Amino acid sequence: MKFRAIIFLCILGFSLQRSTPEDNSYVAAVVEYQVQSNSATNLQNYMKIIGDAAEQNADIIVFPELTISSRDSVVVPINGLLKEHPIPALQPQLFDEVLVSISSAARHHQIYVVINVQELVNCTVEATGESCPEEKIYLFNTNVVFDRAGAVIDRYRKINLFGEHTRTPALTPDLGIFTTDFGVTFGHYICFDLMFQVPAVQVVQKYNITDVIFPTMWFSEMPYLTAVQIQEAYAYAMNVNFLGAGANNVRVGSAGSGIYSGKAGALVSIMPGTPTTKLLVSRVPKVPGQVEGDYPGPINDDPLVLDSLVLISDPSLPSYVTRLIKPGLEEFALIDKDVFCRFKIHMSERNSDTAPYYRAVAHDGVNVYAKRPVGTVGCTIVACKTEDIKSCVYRFPNNGKREITALEIQMTSYSKHYNRTLKCEDIAYYPLSLRNNKFPLSPKNFTFNEQTVQKYTYRAGAFSGVRSYSGVATGGTRVCSVFACTGNTINTCGQRFSRFSSNTAAVFEELKITAAVPTPKPNTDLSANNSTYFPLSLDKTIKPLKPEYFNFSSVSFFDTLSIYTLELVKSAPDLYSFAIWGREYTTDDEEVSPPREHDEGADDSTTTTPAPEDDAPDSSRYWIHLHYISKHHSLQFIRDGYLRECRHLLSWYYLRISSN
Ligand SMILES: *[C@@H]1O[C@H](CO)[C@@H](O)[C@H](O)[C@H]1NC(C)=O
Ligand SMILES: *[C@@H]1O[C@H](CO)[C@@H](O)[C@H](O)[C@H]1NC(C)=O
Ligand SMILES: *[C@@H]1O[C@H](CO)[C@@H](O)[C@H](O)[C@H]1NC(C)=O
Ligand SMILES: *[C@@H]1O[C@H](CO)[C@@H](O)[C@H](O)[C@H]1NC(C)=O
Ligand SMILES: *[C@@H]1O[C@H](CO)[C@@H](O)[C@H](O)[C@H]1NC(C)=O
Ligand SMILES: *[C@@H]1O[C@H](CO)[C@@H](O)[C@H](O)[C@H]1NC(C)=O
Ligand SMILES: *[C@@H]1O[C@H](CO)[C@@H](O)[C@H](O)[C@H]1NC(C)=O
Repeated sequence: MKFRAIIFLCILGFSLQRSTPEDNSYVAAVVEYQVQSNSATNLQNYMKIIGDAAEQNADIIVFPELTISSRDSVVVPINGLLKEHPIPALQPQLFDEVLVSISSAARHHQIYVVINVQELVNCTVEATGESCPEEKIYLFNTNVVFDRAGAVIDRYRKINLFGEHTRTPALTPDLGIFTTDFGVTFGHYICFDLMFQVPAVQVVQKYNITDVIFPTMWFSEMPYLTAVQIQEAYAYAMNVNFLGAGANNVRVGSAGSGIYSGKAGALVSIMPGTPTTKLLVSRVPKVPGQVEGDYPGPINDDPLVLDSLVLISDPSLPSYVTRLIKPGLEEFALIDKDVFCRFKIHMSERNSDTAPYYRAVAHDGVNVYAKRPVGTVGCTIVACKTEDIKSCVYRFPNNGKREITALEIQMTSYSKHYNRTLKCEDIAYYPLSLRNNKFPLSPKNFTFNEQTVQKYTYRAGAFSGVRSYSGVATGGTRVCSVFACTGNTINTCGQRFSRFSSNTAAVFEELKITAAVPTPKPNTDLSANNSTYFPLSLDKTIKPLKPEYFNFSSVSFFDTLSIYTLELVKSAPDLYSFAIWGREYTTDDEEVSPPREHDEGADDSTTTTPAPEDDAPDSSRYWIHLHYISKHHSLQFIRDGYLRECRHLLSWYYLRISSN
């Protein structure tokens, strides 16, 4: 009787420790693990740490990248032997020692375990369920997931290798995903993968994952990409729980682990400056950010100790558009290509020679990591040692104190597009910060708002030349038009945002386009004019404006010059285009006109010709225009019909025939 009661209590004890699907939280553990070469020792340490985590009621534990061994390989036959015998602990003779040991520990402690190993596939022999493009030995960088019974339930191969020349990236971009008995589905990937749309953005957005697992051996880089900084920023921006386990090798700048919960920041994190192995455990709310009760938060190392953590620097900073920040209150803007940064900063006086200089930075470009070009955009304030940009980024000693009392960065940049193939967005924006102690600011200390100000911009265009029709034919056109673009560059024009939303297009209260063009000539053989002009428009319904919205008229002079006018007669919302669009059939089949340079500012008056003083809009206007034209240019020239430039000013058009 007594015996039974004890057993009952034991079982009850176990079931109390585990989180269930009904619980609104679970317990996660991550391991910061000091890199050492003896894999037998490492495996022993792993077993012990798994036990420690289980003692603290962890439901799941995550180990870093390649910290059992970076050289020895493990066969993970998830489509072969493991199908029949999913628990290596029960068939030790069939499997690698690593799988057997971790399986036993997971099973013994009833805990989910995620490890990362170098995986070997021997494609010189038939490897069941493996794809073998070549007959050779394949090495992958692989996460292996064990459930509480010790069964291998998932395998993920790193897609974005960081150098790692002996290894092969995943042969297909398969995502790592598994579901647990406590009702949480995890996505998982490895280290450098974090920088890429596939898998880092896709795994979250395609499957609505709220919890991400991240074994890593991260080489921290100032000012954006130190380990805890980017882990926390990712969790924040993607609004996920994030379990990051980092390999610790401070000599090469590898360190940093943490458990983060969406916009609540770090539940626990470390960024050690000394060789460290440490188990971090925290209760994690199933809804990211909805934390309750106490949690450890960032565990800070003395900044002096952190000096021994080697940090690399972002090599692209010198290509940025930057400005040195002066003490006091400043507001200004910096622009690089498609990125517009507005800064508002209030910084106090320098009060010591060792205080940092701060520089504001705008950047739109490409960084290269491990030979992979990675597109990055940013608006940043960085600390520097001197006024020289080459002295950025500088980690200043604590005594060089300089207060920043207000800091606000506003960034206008590329809008995110949804990639329907990948089922995720193609850009991620992170709020990043890095303090003297190599931790980011707590989310409590800043606000970060993203607004999709999806607004069409508009360009005025003039064209006389030959265009292609989908590469199958060419045709002459003469056009004066106003058209919508999704961005500031010409290649964003003539398209809609990938997802419609209202109030993204401008309201034109007034819009008048006047086109002076050669008068259409008849082709008597064909009984048809050699050119035709159309009034064209398009609104959000992908239909033209109803005729009651516009007036289209023309006059011609001496059978030589025709003036077409297209005018809105009432205010039109949601316009995508408004154009006098002419076909010139005589130049059909000629070569396509080449592209040209475009100004990228909204109204760059240096590259557009200012309009002359305009007359009152009366009926004598055409005559004034004609007078203007004939005074400066020969009608012969007009007959040749080279219309060079249309100038858009406010809501009307001015046309100029260029001089020879
Ligand atoms: C791959 O398989 C072949 C044939 O069984 C064997 O000779 C070779 O040693 C294996 N290679 C490795 C690295 O396991
Ligand atoms: C993800 O969530 C969105 C919106 O909540 C929903 O429309 C979509 O079907 C979900 N996708 C999956 C794979 O669950
Ligand atoms: C979606 O992503 C794939 C893979 O990166 C890419 O090839 C494709 O061009 C993208 N599609 C769009 C519309 O951007
Ligand atoms: C962050 O905010 C807390 C109050 O929420 C404050 O005590 C702390 O000093 C702030 N830390 C920094 C670095 O500003
Ligand atoms: C041909 O163009 C003239 C103007 O040059 C115009 O009056 C005439 O209506 C046009 N003919 C046709 C068939 O469009
Ligand atoms: C259209 O233009 C003609 C000629 O300029 C003008 O008489 C007429 O009033 C205009 N219609 C509207 C609705 O503005
Ligand atoms: C009309 O086009 C035809 C074919 O290009 C050309 O031969 C003819 O000269 C043109 N007519 C006029 C009046 O320009």
